[in-house]
Amino acid sequence: MNNLCIVGLQWGDEGKGKIVDAVANDFDLVVRYQGGSNAGHTVVINGQKFILHLLPSGILRPGKLCVIANGVVVDPPLLLQEMDELIRRGVKIADNLAISDRAHLVLPYHKELDKLQEADPHRNKIGTTGRGIGPCYVDKAARTGIRAGDMLDPAMFERKLRANIEQKNRLFDLLYRAPAISADPIVKEYLGYAERLRPRICDTVALLTDAQAQGKRILFEGAQGALLDVDFGTYPYITSSSASSGGVATGTGVPPKTIGRVLGIMKAYTTRVGEGPFPTELNDDTGRQLRERGSEFGATTGRPRRCGWCDVVATRHTVAICGVDSIAMTKLDVLSGLETISVATEYRYNGADLARFPAGAEILAKCRPVYRTFAGWKEDLSKCRTFSDLPSNARAYVTALEEMLGVPVESISVGSGRDDCVRR
Ligand code: GDP
Ligand code: IMO
Ligand code: MG
Repeated sequence: MNNLCIVGLQWGDEGKGKIVDAVANDFDLVVRYQGGSNAGHTVVINGQKFILHLLPSGILRPGKLCVIANGVVVDPPLLLQEMDELIRRGVKIADNLAISDRAHLVLPYHKELDKLQEADPHRNKIGTTGRGIGPCYVDKAARTGIRAGDMLDPAMFERKLRANIEQKNRLFDLLYRAPAISADPIVKEYLGYAERLRPRICDTVALLTDAQAQGKRILFEGAQGALLDVDFGTYPYITSSSASSGGVATGTGVPPKTIGRVLGIMKAYTTRVGEGPFPTELNDDTGRQLRERGSEFGATTGRPRRCGWCDVVATRHTVAICGVDSIAMTKLDVLSGLETISVATEYRYNGADLARFPAGAEILAKCRPVYRTFAGWKEDLSKCRTFSDLPSNARAYVTALEEMLGVPVESISVGSGRDDCVRR
Protein backbone atom coordinates (compact mmCIF):
# COMPACT_ATOMS: atom_id res chain seq x y z
CA MET A 1 0.00 0.00 0.00
CA ASN A 2 1.40 3.36 -1.04
CA ASN A 3 -0.71 5.56 1.14
CA LEU A 4 -0.19 6.92 4.64
CA CYS A 5 -2.44 8.62 7.16
CA ILE A 6 -0.88 11.01 9.67
CA VAL A 7 -3.02 11.46 12.74
CA GLY A 8 -2.64 13.21 16.09
CA LEU A 9 -2.83 10.87 19.09
CA GLN A 10 -3.49 13.48 21.80
CA TRP A 11 -5.51 16.73 21.92
CA GLY A 12 -3.91 18.27 18.83
CA ASP A 13 -0.70 20.25 18.28
CA GLU A 14 1.42 17.10 18.40
CA GLY A 15 3.59 18.38 15.54
CA LYS A 16 1.62 16.90 12.63
CA GLY A 17 2.61 19.75 10.31
CA LYS A 18 6.28 19.14 10.87
CA ILE A 19 6.00 15.41 10.22
CA VAL A 20 3.76 15.83 7.15
CA ASP A 21 6.37 18.16 5.69
CA ALA A 22 9.17 15.77 6.63
CA VAL A 23 7.64 12.77 4.84
CA ALA A 24 5.73 14.56 2.03
CA ASN A 25 8.48 13.98 -0.52
CA ASP A 26 7.60 10.28 -0.56
CA PHE A 27 4.05 11.06 -1.79
CA ASP A 28 2.34 12.54 -4.85
CA LEU A 29 -0.70 14.02 -3.12
CA VAL A 30 -1.28 15.52 0.32
CA VAL A 31 -4.92 15.54 1.41
CA ARG A 32 -6.63 17.26 4.34
CA TYR A 33 -9.74 15.25 5.27
CA GLN A 34 -11.41 17.02 8.21
CA GLY A 35 -11.39 20.07 10.43
CA GLY A 36 -11.01 23.60 9.19
CA SER A 37 -9.19 26.76 10.11
CA ASN A 38 -9.25 25.66 13.75
CA ALA A 39 -6.08 23.75 12.82
CA GLY A 40 -2.67 25.38 13.00
CA HIS A 41 0.12 23.25 11.53
CA THR A 42 3.61 24.64 11.87
CA VAL A 43 6.41 23.88 9.44
CA VAL A 44 9.87 25.38 9.88
CA ILE A 45 12.10 25.37 6.79
CA ASN A 46 15.58 26.92 7.03
CA GLY A 47 14.45 28.92 10.04
CA GLN A 48 11.40 30.26 8.19
CA LYS A 49 8.16 29.49 9.98
CA PHE A 50 4.92 28.71 8.12
CA ILE A 51 1.59 28.09 9.87
CA LEU A 52 -0.98 26.25 7.76
CA HIS A 53 -4.63 26.39 8.78
CA LEU A 54 -6.61 25.15 5.77
CA LEU A 55 -3.96 24.34 3.20
CA PRO A 56 -2.37 20.89 3.42
CA SER A 57 1.17 21.18 4.79
CA GLY A 58 2.39 19.54 1.57
CA ILE A 59 1.83 22.86 -0.21
CA LEU A 60 5.38 23.82 0.85
CA ARG A 61 6.83 20.94 -1.18
CA PRO A 62 6.95 21.78 -4.89
CA GLY A 63 5.27 19.30 -7.19
CA LYS A 64 2.80 17.88 -4.67
CA LEU A 65 -0.88 17.99 -5.51
CA CYS A 66 -2.70 19.28 -2.42
CA VAL A 67 -6.35 18.50 -1.82
CA ILE A 68 -8.82 20.07 0.57
CA ALA A 69 -11.28 17.20 0.61
CA ASN A 70 -15.00 17.06 1.33
CA GLY A 71 -14.64 16.45 5.08
CA VAL A 72 -12.95 19.83 5.60
CA VAL A 73 -14.99 22.95 6.36
CA VAL A 74 -13.64 25.83 4.30
CA ASP A 75 -13.68 29.47 5.35
CA PRO A 76 -13.33 31.33 2.02
CA PRO A 77 -11.72 34.61 3.19
CA LEU A 78 -9.34 32.81 5.54
CA LEU A 79 -8.32 30.37 2.81
CA LEU A 80 -7.72 33.20 0.32
CA GLN A 81 -5.74 35.12 2.93
CA GLU A 82 -3.61 32.04 3.62
CA MET A 83 -3.04 31.48 -0.10
CA ASP A 84 -2.12 35.15 -0.70
CA GLU A 85 0.32 35.18 2.20
CA LEU A 86 2.09 32.03 0.98
CA ILE A 87 2.21 33.29 -2.61
CA ARG A 88 3.75 36.51 -1.28
CA ARG A 89 6.41 34.36 0.41
CA GLY A 90 7.21 32.60 -2.85
CA VAL A 91 5.12 29.43 -2.54
CA LYS A 92 3.39 28.30 -5.73
CA ILE A 93 -0.36 27.88 -5.37
CA ALA A 94 -2.17 27.28 -8.64
CA ASP A 95 -3.18 23.98 -10.19
CA ASN A 96 -1.34 22.20 -7.33
CA LEU A 97 -4.41 22.91 -5.14
CA ALA A 98 -7.84 21.31 -5.46
CA ILE A 99 -10.83 22.09 -3.25
CA SER A 100 -13.67 19.60 -3.05
CA ASP A 101 -17.00 20.77 -4.44
CA ARG A 102 -18.53 18.81 -1.55
CA ALA A 103 -16.64 20.68 1.19
CA HIS A 104 -18.94 22.76 3.36
CA LEU A 105 -18.36 26.48 3.74
CA VAL A 106 -17.87 28.27 7.03
CA LEU A 107 -19.91 31.46 6.75
CA PRO A 108 -20.04 34.59 8.94
CA TYR A 109 -23.11 33.38 10.83
CA HIS A 110 -21.25 30.22 11.89
CA LYS A 111 -18.57 32.30 13.57
CA GLU A 112 -21.22 34.52 15.15
CA LEU A 113 -23.04 31.45 16.47
CA ASP A 114 -19.78 29.97 17.79
CA LYS A 115 -19.26 33.17 19.82
CA LEU A 116 -22.86 33.32 21.08
CA GLN A 117 -22.81 29.66 22.12
CA GLU A 118 -19.51 30.02 23.95
CA ALA A 119 -20.87 33.03 25.86
CA ASP A 120 -24.17 31.29 26.67
CA PRO A 121 -24.33 30.59 30.43
CA HIS A 122 -26.75 27.71 29.81
CA ARG A 123 -24.29 25.78 27.67
CA ASN A 124 -21.00 24.02 28.33
CA LYS A 125 -18.14 26.31 27.45
CA ILE A 126 -15.84 24.30 25.18
CA GLY A 127 -13.08 26.87 24.69
CA THR A 128 -13.39 26.66 20.90
CA THR A 129 -11.11 28.44 18.48
CA GLY A 130 -14.05 30.69 17.57
CA ARG A 131 -13.68 29.74 13.91
CA GLY A 132 -17.30 28.63 13.45
CA ILE A 133 -16.34 24.98 13.10
CA GLY A 134 -19.06 23.39 15.28
CA PRO A 135 -21.96 25.40 13.81
CA CYS A 136 -20.76 24.65 10.26
CA TYR A 137 -20.70 20.89 10.87
CA VAL A 138 -24.12 21.22 12.53
CA ASP A 139 -25.50 22.73 9.31
CA LYS A 140 -23.86 19.96 7.31
CA ALA A 141 -25.60 17.29 9.39
CA ALA A 142 -28.83 19.31 9.43
CA ARG A 143 -28.77 19.37 5.61
CA THR A 144 -28.85 23.15 5.47
CA GLY A 145 -25.17 23.72 4.70
CA ILE A 146 -23.73 25.51 1.69
CA ARG A 147 -20.90 23.76 -0.14
CA ALA A 148 -17.95 24.95 -2.17
CA GLY A 149 -19.64 23.54 -5.28
CA ASP A 150 -22.53 25.95 -4.74
CA MET A 151 -20.11 28.81 -5.40
CA LEU A 152 -19.81 27.63 -9.01
CA ASP A 153 -23.38 28.80 -9.64
CA PRO A 154 -23.53 32.42 -8.39
CA ALA A 155 -27.32 32.73 -8.60
CA MET A 156 -27.88 29.54 -6.62
CA PHE A 157 -25.13 30.45 -4.15
CA GLU A 158 -26.78 33.84 -3.53
CA ARG A 159 -30.19 32.24 -3.07
CA LYS A 160 -28.93 29.72 -0.51
CA LEU A 161 -26.86 32.34 1.29
CA ARG A 162 -29.78 34.75 1.65
CA ALA A 163 -32.11 31.98 2.86
CA ASN A 164 -29.58 30.82 5.46
CA ILE A 165 -28.83 34.34 6.71
CA GLU A 166 -32.54 34.97 7.16
CA GLN A 167 -32.98 31.73 9.05
CA LYS A 168 -29.92 32.33 11.26
CA ASN A 169 -31.12 35.86 12.04
CA ARG A 170 -34.33 34.37 13.43
CA LEU A 171 -32.24 32.08 15.57
CA PHE A 172 -29.99 34.91 16.81
CA ASP A 173 -33.04 36.92 17.83
CA LEU A 174 -35.11 34.13 19.39
CA LEU A 175 -32.34 32.37 21.25
CA TYR A 176 -29.86 35.12 22.06
CA ARG A 177 -31.61 38.45 21.47
CA ALA A 178 -28.60 39.17 19.30
CA PRO A 179 -28.75 41.69 16.45
CA ALA A 180 -29.38 40.47 12.91
CA ILE A 181 -26.56 40.35 10.38
CA SER A 182 -27.29 42.03 7.08
CA ALA A 183 -27.32 39.91 3.97
CA ASP A 184 -26.37 42.38 1.24
CA PRO A 185 -22.74 43.05 2.16
CA ILE A 186 -22.12 39.36 2.91
CA VAL A 187 -23.60 38.26 -0.41
CA LYS A 188 -21.48 40.80 -2.29
CA GLU A 189 -18.31 39.85 -0.43
CA TYR A 190 -18.79 36.10 -0.80
CA LEU A 191 -19.68 36.28 -4.52
CA GLY A 192 -16.24 37.86 -4.88
CA TYR A 193 -14.58 35.00 -2.97
CA ALA A 194 -16.50 32.52 -5.13
CA GLU A 195 -15.08 34.12 -8.24
CA ARG A 196 -11.53 33.80 -6.90
CA LEU A 197 -11.87 30.23 -5.65
CA ARG A 198 -13.78 28.92 -8.68
CA PRO A 199 -10.70 27.63 -10.59
CA ARG A 200 -9.64 25.51 -7.61
CA ILE A 201 -13.03 23.86 -6.93
CA CYS A 202 -13.58 20.45 -8.49
CA ASP A 203 -14.75 16.88 -7.93
CA THR A 204 -11.95 15.65 -5.67
CA VAL A 205 -13.59 12.23 -5.31
CA ALA A 206 -12.98 11.67 -9.03
CA LEU A 207 -9.50 13.17 -8.69
CA LEU A 208 -8.59 10.77 -5.85
CA THR A 209 -10.16 7.78 -7.60
CA ASP A 210 -8.06 8.50 -10.70
CA ALA A 211 -4.94 9.09 -8.61
CA GLN A 212 -5.37 5.67 -6.99
CA ALA A 213 -5.93 4.01 -10.35
CA GLN A 214 -2.67 5.54 -11.55
CA GLY A 215 -0.82 4.18 -8.51
CA LYS A 216 -0.14 7.64 -7.10
CA ARG A 217 0.88 7.77 -3.44
CA ILE A 218 -1.44 9.67 -1.14
CA LEU A 219 -0.64 11.23 2.24
CA PHE A 220 -3.70 11.98 4.37
CA GLU A 221 -3.07 14.83 6.82
CA GLY A 222 -5.21 14.74 9.93
CA ALA A 223 -6.03 17.86 11.89
CA GLN A 224 -6.67 18.12 15.64
CA GLY A 225 -6.09 14.86 17.52
CA ALA A 226 -8.02 11.66 18.17
CA LEU A 227 -8.86 12.80 21.73
CA LEU A 228 -10.81 15.65 20.06
CA ASP A 229 -12.67 13.26 17.72
CA VAL A 230 -16.43 13.85 17.76
CA ASP A 231 -17.11 10.18 18.56
CA PHE A 232 -14.05 8.90 20.40
CA GLY A 233 -12.72 12.03 22.08
CA THR A 234 -13.50 13.55 25.45
CA TYR A 235 -17.07 14.43 24.54
CA PRO A 236 -18.42 17.12 24.76
CA TYR A 237 -14.99 18.80 24.99
CA ILE A 238 -14.07 17.90 21.45
CA THR A 239 -14.14 19.35 17.97
CA SER A 240 -16.98 18.53 15.58
CA SER A 241 -15.23 16.29 13.07
CA SER A 242 -13.77 12.78 12.85
CA ALA A 243 -10.20 13.59 13.79
CA SER A 244 -9.14 9.94 14.05
CA SER A 245 -8.01 7.95 11.00
CA GLY A 246 -11.61 6.83 10.57
CA GLY A 247 -12.34 10.26 9.14
CA VAL A 248 -10.24 9.58 6.04
CA ALA A 249 -12.81 7.47 4.20
CA THR A 250 -15.83 9.69 4.81
CA GLY A 251 -13.74 12.85 4.55
CA THR A 252 -12.28 12.09 1.12
CA GLY A 253 -14.28 9.37 -0.61
CA VAL A 254 -11.45 6.83 -0.74
CA PRO A 255 -12.52 3.39 0.48
CA PRO A 256 -11.31 2.53 4.02
CA LYS A 257 -9.04 -0.26 2.82
CA THR A 258 -6.99 2.15 0.70
CA ILE A 259 -5.85 4.18 3.69
CA GLY A 260 -2.71 2.09 4.04
CA ARG A 261 -0.35 2.76 6.90
CA VAL A 262 -1.25 4.94 9.86
CA LEU A 263 1.46 7.04 11.49
CA GLY A 264 0.41 8.41 14.88
CA ILE A 265 2.00 11.65 16.04
CA MET A 266 2.63 11.85 19.76
CA LYS A 267 4.30 14.60 21.74
CA ALA A 268 6.77 13.38 24.38
CA TYR A 269 4.42 15.02 26.91
CA THR A 270 0.81 16.19 26.54
CA THR A 271 -0.88 19.51 25.82
CA ARG A 272 -4.45 20.62 25.51
CA VAL A 273 -6.06 23.94 24.52
CA GLY A 274 -9.53 24.90 25.70
CA GLU A 275 -11.73 23.30 28.33
CA GLY A 276 -12.17 19.65 29.28
CA PRO A 277 -10.65 17.03 31.56
CA PHE A 278 -6.90 16.39 31.35
CA PRO A 279 -5.85 13.82 33.98
CA THR A 280 -2.08 14.34 33.70
CA GLU A 281 -2.22 18.16 33.62
CA LEU A 282 0.52 19.91 35.61
CA ASN A 283 -0.60 23.13 37.26
CA ASP A 284 2.84 23.73 38.72
CA ASP A 285 6.37 24.84 37.86
CA THR A 286 6.97 21.73 35.74
CA GLY A 287 3.87 22.51 33.68
CA ARG A 288 5.06 26.10 33.24
CA GLN A 289 8.52 24.86 32.31
CA LEU A 290 7.07 22.60 29.60
CA ARG A 291 4.99 25.50 28.26
CA GLU A 292 7.98 27.83 28.08
CA ARG A 293 10.55 25.34 26.78
CA GLY A 294 8.09 23.89 24.30
CA SER A 295 6.71 27.33 23.25
CA GLU A 296 3.28 25.91 23.96
CA PHE A 297 1.09 28.71 22.72
CA GLY A 298 -1.66 28.04 20.17
CA ALA A 299 -0.69 28.34 16.50
CA THR A 300 -4.24 29.49 15.69
CA THR A 301 -5.40 31.51 18.70
CA GLY A 302 -2.17 32.20 20.60
CA ARG A 303 -3.73 30.81 23.79
CA PRO A 304 -1.33 29.23 26.31
CA ARG A 305 -1.59 25.44 26.03
CA ARG A 306 -2.24 23.40 29.16
CA CYS A 307 0.71 21.04 29.70
CA GLY A 308 1.14 17.70 31.44
CA TRP A 309 2.75 14.27 31.33
CA CYS A 310 2.24 11.56 28.73
CA ASP A 311 -0.87 9.51 29.31
CA VAL A 312 -0.62 5.88 28.21
CA VAL A 313 -4.28 5.12 29.02
CA ALA A 314 -5.48 7.88 26.69
CA THR A 315 -2.88 7.16 24.01
CA ARG A 316 -3.53 3.41 24.03
CA HIS A 317 -7.17 4.30 23.28
CA THR A 318 -6.22 6.50 20.31
CA VAL A 319 -3.61 4.03 19.02
CA ALA A 320 -6.37 1.40 18.99
CA ILE A 321 -9.11 3.43 17.33
CA CYS A 322 -6.75 4.86 14.72
CA GLY A 323 -5.09 1.52 13.94
CA VAL A 324 -1.67 3.06 14.42
CA ASP A 325 1.19 1.12 12.80
CA SER A 326 3.98 3.28 14.17
CA ILE A 327 4.53 6.47 16.08
CA ALA A 328 6.49 9.63 15.36
CA MET A 329 7.36 11.08 18.75
CA THR A 330 7.90 14.85 18.80
CA LYS A 331 9.47 17.40 21.13
CA LEU A 332 11.59 14.97 23.11
CA ASP A 333 14.16 17.80 23.29
CA VAL A 334 11.74 19.80 25.46
CA LEU A 335 12.10 17.27 28.31
CA SER A 336 15.87 17.85 28.66
CA GLY A 337 16.80 19.20 32.08
CA LEU A 338 13.94 17.64 34.02
CA GLU A 339 15.06 15.67 37.08
CA THR A 340 12.36 13.05 36.54
CA ILE A 341 9.67 12.42 33.92
CA SER A 342 6.36 10.73 34.69
CA VAL A 343 3.94 8.77 32.55
CA ALA A 344 0.38 7.81 33.52
CA THR A 345 0.04 4.04 33.15
CA GLU A 346 -3.48 3.63 34.52
CA TYR A 347 -6.27 5.58 36.20
CA ARG A 348 -7.82 5.22 39.65
CA TYR A 349 -11.56 5.86 39.62
CA ASN A 350 -13.83 5.40 42.66
CA GLY A 351 -11.11 3.49 44.45
CA ALA A 352 -10.58 0.96 41.65
CA ASP A 353 -8.18 0.68 38.72
CA LEU A 354 -9.50 1.74 35.37
CA ALA A 355 -7.39 0.31 32.60
CA ARG A 356 -9.53 1.61 29.72
CA PHE A 357 -10.18 5.16 28.65
CA PRO A 358 -13.72 6.16 29.75
CA ALA A 359 -16.35 7.50 27.33
CA GLY A 360 -17.56 10.33 29.52
CA ALA A 361 -15.79 13.56 30.36
CA GLU A 362 -17.46 13.47 33.78
CA ILE A 363 -15.74 10.17 34.62
CA LEU A 364 -12.43 11.25 33.13
CA ALA A 365 -12.51 14.38 35.28
CA LYS A 366 -12.57 12.16 38.39
CA CYS A 367 -9.82 9.80 37.24
CA ARG A 368 -6.54 10.03 39.12
CA PRO A 369 -3.50 8.94 37.12
CA VAL A 370 -1.13 6.31 38.48
CA TYR A 371 2.39 7.31 37.46
CA ARG A 372 5.52 5.47 36.51
CA THR A 373 8.53 7.73 36.92
CA PHE A 374 11.65 7.82 34.77
CA ALA A 375 15.03 9.42 35.38
CA GLY A 376 15.56 12.54 33.28
CA TRP A 377 18.63 13.70 31.34
CA LYS A 378 20.49 16.99 31.08
CA GLU A 379 21.88 16.81 27.53
CA ASP A 380 20.66 18.99 24.68
CA LEU A 381 19.11 16.63 22.11
CA SER A 382 18.84 19.03 19.19
CA LYS A 383 21.88 17.64 17.36
CA CYS A 384 21.01 13.97 17.85
CA ARG A 385 20.30 12.17 14.57
CA THR A 386 20.57 8.47 15.45
CA PHE A 387 19.01 6.57 18.33
CA SER A 388 22.42 5.92 19.83
CA ASP A 389 23.11 9.70 19.87
CA LEU A 390 20.38 10.03 22.52
CA PRO A 391 21.33 9.84 26.23
CA SER A 392 20.55 6.42 27.72
CA ASN A 393 17.74 7.81 29.92
CA ALA A 394 16.04 9.31 26.86
CA ARG A 395 16.36 5.98 25.05
CA ALA A 396 14.89 4.19 28.06
CA TYR A 397 11.95 6.63 28.10
CA VAL A 398 11.17 6.11 24.40
CA THR A 399 11.57 2.34 24.63
CA ALA A 400 9.28 2.12 27.68
CA LEU A 401 6.58 4.15 25.92
CA GLU A 402 6.69 1.97 22.84
CA GLU A 403 6.45 -1.13 25.01
CA MET A 404 3.50 0.25 26.95
CA LEU A 405 1.72 1.33 23.76
CA GLY A 406 2.61 -1.80 21.83
CA VAL A 407 3.64 0.21 18.76
CA PRO A 408 7.15 1.02 17.48
CA VAL A 409 8.40 4.61 17.62
CA GLU A 410 9.81 5.06 14.11
CA SER A 411 11.15 8.59 14.49
CA ILE A 412 11.90 11.03 17.27
CA SER A 413 11.75 14.74 16.61
CA VAL A 414 14.24 16.88 18.55
CA GLY A 415 13.56 20.37 17.18
CA SER A 416 11.12 22.29 15.01
CA GLY A 417 13.29 22.28 11.85
CA ARG A 418 12.69 19.94 8.93
CA ASP A 419 15.81 17.87 9.63
CA ASP A 420 15.76 17.91 13.44
CA CYS A 421 14.91 14.27 13.65
CA VAL A 422 16.19 10.90 14.86
CA ARG A 423 15.19 8.09 12.48
CA ARG A 424 15.34 4.46 13.53
P1 GDP B 1 0.29 20.49 14.78
O1 GDP B 1 -0.97 21.26 14.93
O2 GDP B 1 0.15 19.08 15.21
O3 GDP B 1 0.88 20.59 13.40
O4 GDP B 1 1.34 21.15 15.79
P2 GDP B 1 1.59 22.74 16.00
O5 GDP B 1 2.29 23.27 14.82
O6 GDP B 1 0.33 23.41 16.41
O7 GDP B 1 2.49 22.71 17.30
C1 GDP B 1 3.72 22.07 17.32
C2 GDP B 1 4.80 23.10 17.67
O8 GDP B 1 5.97 22.44 18.06
C3 GDP B 1 5.18 23.97 16.50
O9 GDP B 1 5.58 25.23 16.99
C4 GDP B 1 6.40 23.24 15.92
O10 GDP B 1 7.27 24.10 15.21
C5 GDP B 1 7.04 22.71 17.17
N1 GDP B 1 7.75 21.45 17.04
C6 GDP B 1 7.43 20.37 16.28
N2 GDP B 1 8.28 19.35 16.54
C7 GDP B 1 9.15 19.79 17.47
C8 GDP B 1 10.24 19.20 18.18
O11 GDP B 1 10.57 18.02 18.01
N3 GDP B 1 10.90 19.96 19.09
C9 GDP B 1 10.54 21.26 19.32
N4 GDP B 1 11.23 21.93 20.25
N5 GDP B 1 9.52 21.86 18.68
C10 GDP B 1 8.83 21.13 17.78
P1 IMO C 1 -4.34 21.19 15.22
O1 IMO C 1 -4.74 20.62 13.88
C1 IMO C 1 -5.44 21.84 19.38
C2 IMO C 1 -9.68 22.45 20.25
C3 IMO C 1 -10.10 23.83 20.75
C4 IMO C 1 -11.26 23.43 21.64
C5 IMO C 1 -11.91 22.29 20.87
C6 IMO C 1 -13.09 22.70 20.01
O2 IMO C 1 -3.50 22.40 15.13
O3 IMO C 1 -3.79 20.13 16.10
P2 IMO C 1 -13.29 24.03 17.72
O4 IMO C 1 -12.84 25.40 17.34
O5 IMO C 1 -12.68 22.95 16.90
O6 IMO C 1 -14.78 23.89 17.80
O7 IMO C 1 -12.74 23.83 19.23
O8 IMO C 1 -10.89 21.76 20.03
N1 IMO C 1 -8.94 22.47 18.97
C7 IMO C 1 -7.62 22.24 18.87
N2 IMO C 1 -6.68 22.06 19.82
N3 IMO C 1 -5.09 21.75 18.08
C8 IMO C 1 -6.02 21.91 17.12
O9 IMO C 1 -5.75 21.72 15.81
C9 IMO C 1 -7.35 22.21 17.49
N4 IMO C 1 -8.48 22.43 16.81
C10 IMO C 1 -9.45 22.57 17.73
O10 IMO C 1 -9.07 24.45 21.46
O11 IMO C 1 -10.79 22.90 22.85
MG1 MG D 1 -1.69 23.00 15.85
